[in-house]
Amino acid sequence: MTAPRALFNLNGATVAYDGAPGRRLSEALREDFGARDVKIGCNAGDCGACTVLIDGEVVCACMVPAARLKGARVETLAGLNGRDALLERLQRAFLHYGAAQCGICTPGMLMSALGLLRHNAKPSEAVVMDALGGVLCRCTGYRKIIRAVMEAGGFALEVPPAPAGKAVGTSVVRVDGMPKVDGSERFGDDVAPANCLAARVIRSPHHHAAFSFGDVDGFAAAHPGVRRVLTAADVPGCNCFGVIPPFADQPVFAEGTARFRGEAVAAVVGEATAVEAFDDEDFPVIWTPWPAVLTPQEAEAPGAPLLHETRSGNLLTGGLVERGEVEQALSAADAVVEREVETSFVEHAYIEPEAGYARRVGERIEIHACTQAPHMDRGDMAAIMGLESEQVRIVPTAAGGGFGSKLDISLQPYIALAAWVTGEPARLAYSRRESMTSTTKRHPAVMRVRVGASRDGRLTGLDFFGTFNTGAYASWGPTVANRVPVHASGPYFVPHYRARSRAIHTHCAPSGAFRGFGVPQAAIAQETTFDELADRLGIDRLEFRILNALDNGIPTVTGQVFESGVGIRQCLERLRPYWREARETARKVNDGANGARRGVGLAAGWYGCGNTSLPNPSTIRCGIRADGTVVLHQGAVDIGQGANTVVMQIFADALGVALDSIRLIGPDTDITPDAGKTSASRQTYVSGNAARLAGEALRQKILRLANVSDAADLQIGDGEIILTEAGGERRHVGLGALPIERDDYALSAEATYDPPTEPLDDKGQGVPYAVFGYAAQMAELEVDMALGTVKLIKFTAAHDVGRAINPVLVEGQVEGGIAQGLGMALMEEFVPGRTENLHDYLIPTIGDVPPVETLIVEVPDMHGPYGAKGLGEHVLVPTAPAILNAIRDATGAVISKVPATPDRVRAAIVAAQARSQP
Ligand code: FES
Ligand code: FES
Repeated sequence: MTAPRALFNLNGATVAYDGAPGRRLSEALREDFGARDVKIGCNAGDCGACTVLIDGEVVCACMVPAARLKGARVETLAGLNGRDALLERLQRAFLHYGAAQCGICTPGMLMSALGLLRHNAKPSEAVVMDALGGVLCRCTGYRKIIRAVMEAGGFALEVPPAPAGKAVGTSVVRVDGMPKVDGSERFGDDVAPANCLAARVIRSPHHHAAFSFGDVDGFAAAHPGVRRVLTAADVPGCNCFGVIPPFADQPVFAEGTARFRGEAVAAVVGEATAVEAFDDEDFPVIWTPWPAVLTPQEAEAPGAPLLHETRSGNLLTGGLVERGEVEQALSAADAVVEREVETSFVEHAYIEPEAGYARRVGERIEIHACTQAPHMDRGDMAAIMGLESEQVRIVPTAAGGGFGSKLDISLQPYIALAAWVTGEPARLAYSRRESMTSTTKRHPAVMRVRVGASRDGRLTGLDFFGTFNTGAYASWGPTVANRVPVHASGPYFVPHYRARSRAIHTHCAPSGAFRGFGVPQAAIAQETTFDELADRLGIDRLEFRILNALDNGIPTVTGQVFESGVGIRQCLERLRPYWREARETARKVNDGANGARRGVGLAAGWYGCGNTSLPNPSTIRCGIRADGTVVLHQGAVDIGQGANTVVMQIFADALGVALDSIRLIGPDTDITPDAGKTSASRQTYVSGNAARLAGEALRQKILRLANVSDAADLQIGDGEIILTEAGGERRHVGLGALPIERDDYALSAEATYDPPTEPLDDKGQGVPYAVFGYAAQMAELEVDMALGTVKLIKFTAAHDVGRAINPVLVEGQVEGGIAQGLGMALMEEFVPGRTENLHDYLIPTIGDVPPVETLIVEVPDMHGPYGAKGLGEHVLVPTAPAILNAIRDATGAVISKVPATPDRVRAAIVAAQARSQP
């Protein structure tokens, strides 16, 4: 018997490590010792998701060989649960402040915080930021995490539940919060059974190349443990998928030609050690690189290679909204400003790379993976597998962030095919590089805007033309092309308007959905131009926006008129005192300053909730079991934004019971009806409405059964329902005596809500959305004039959410969205082949996000549940233009390409100084 490579203490117990000498501790902890609370986001020391304590020190477990741990004491989150009072206080604080959204970063955050608090019980903000600086969070914007760590202590784990009928409007702790803070949440890579097979995808190293396979069978035979090699020939159904069926064009495996770097051409299936044991170059594929076009300019040049034969000029599609006579209006305007702005690819950079496993159950396939769209996945996977939809079961795991990219299928076909052909469960977790190269991005755009106004400051016309790099396949390109023209006016009355958009194919990873579907890019062009126009007219920039703000009874650019619920004016007016004070402060700071200059910038935004002029239903089911358990089948995937909690709050109040009396059954295509995809900020509004209707229907059923008034109070439990009238009269309904309805329920209800929209005509006129949400944000910052670096000081964000169902969750969305927006504005630029990891591709760290003051505005919407509007994507829309406007305010520099990296800011400062020379 040989001695183990290392004996060490793991969470109080001695364990023996006997694996490979170079194996990462993170992998050993997860795979050998079952510590799935240790997460993996990069395997490179960049994200901190794997943070553990080794002999009390905060360490990234992915950077430590497990064999080196002889005699060490290793602590992980789940191992300390219930055994560490300090950790318990931290967990309480994280729940109380809403510091965990998707929760994938939370174990690393908590362990870093624990390491700090053990030495420093009362850390300052700066010390907390320093200590947690190695852990990335893509959801929260960090501010609630900082607060939770600084104030850890004193919060009851069991926050008193909201009384029956009072959940809406209350900052209840998220109903799925505890698993996120105790490490028991299970994400895509946490659910596979032990000793499951593994799949590995072989991908193109070239932007554009022809390829053929060599001796694939010989390769499999030469690698013991490899069971199968899969190629396009092994796809039993259709080797094509896409989120918008008429445009579906992406192969599961490319056939003969790879159209982007990172495209899948084959997959190797086998024992985990076998599929990891070879280099990509060893796989027998012969590449013939071809010229590639990486920008729309190249793709539209004469003689450019065509990516898809039927799409001439590499044009995927375009969009148009037109109203009035824009050219005449601009000719007649007293002032016109024109500018061009360019944006870059932005990577979603969720901390959880795509992961999951699949298993074959007879003639059915089950896929357990992270996703934002389980029912859509089921349809796609049925087509790929050549099965009926009923033969496919999608069971979403917790999603460690999504932001739009997990709307498209990614790893699902590979694990499903692997499990189908071998008959054994198969798993796959994308590496960080694989995630970044192969999944969708935010569309880069080149946009030209002309805006005109009369001398009294009223907008007269706006012309927008945007070209969007949609990458190699359609994905959500058509949605971006259609949504942008509807939104490119911003939330203003523009009597004469034309907005055109085009989505152009290139040999880049597909551009898809990313929090805003192109609207954040358009807002950069429009809102920065508005600042210049206001200045040209000599009008205060905020007052200019208020003067032109949309309002009830005023038509939007598609001719839609809302009789109520338009809240942009209220958002802008809430900013007025902050704007005046910040401007005055900036003036004082800049007086006599040299080196750095302070600036203040504003921007507004709007966003239509749900699909553009298309059906967009959600269905919610609920029931009461004979024992009195109230069950909610809630299929809206919670990717961290809080859908589980918000939808339950709405349902609880509609039914009239306490929130904590409801049992939640989450998304699973076998047992939960289709609540639609988690996208377009639709879940609070659309699924919330379905939950409200389902709750009301169930309540009416109960009231009718007991023959009591609508106002009766309900108590459900212990096999009966007790109904109490206002006068105190009581009725009892015994549940055991009722006939059982579907799904073992004594009483049940199901409701569907589909937003009332109308088609757009060929000029883009119509009713694209039933509800818009509105926002106005203000950025305060300082720019180093010599270096071009930008230091953010504060964000003030006014958001009209109609009704804040859960104010803490609203703040969380605002802070997280602002963090992503500032990343887009200042640092994030995905360059295929160059920034395919989290040290070359920078996202905001805890030190980059300034304090955020959220001003919740509630202008109720007539369609929204209890007046609520969507929020998730709205937040990001004004952030980047507010920053760019603040940079210009500080320096005079006009940024024409984002991100506004120091070199670009510095160049713009130099150009501005040259312009101002006499
Ligand atoms: S997984 Fe270890 S730092 Fe990212
Ligand atoms: S909550 Fe931090 S990454 Fe999602």
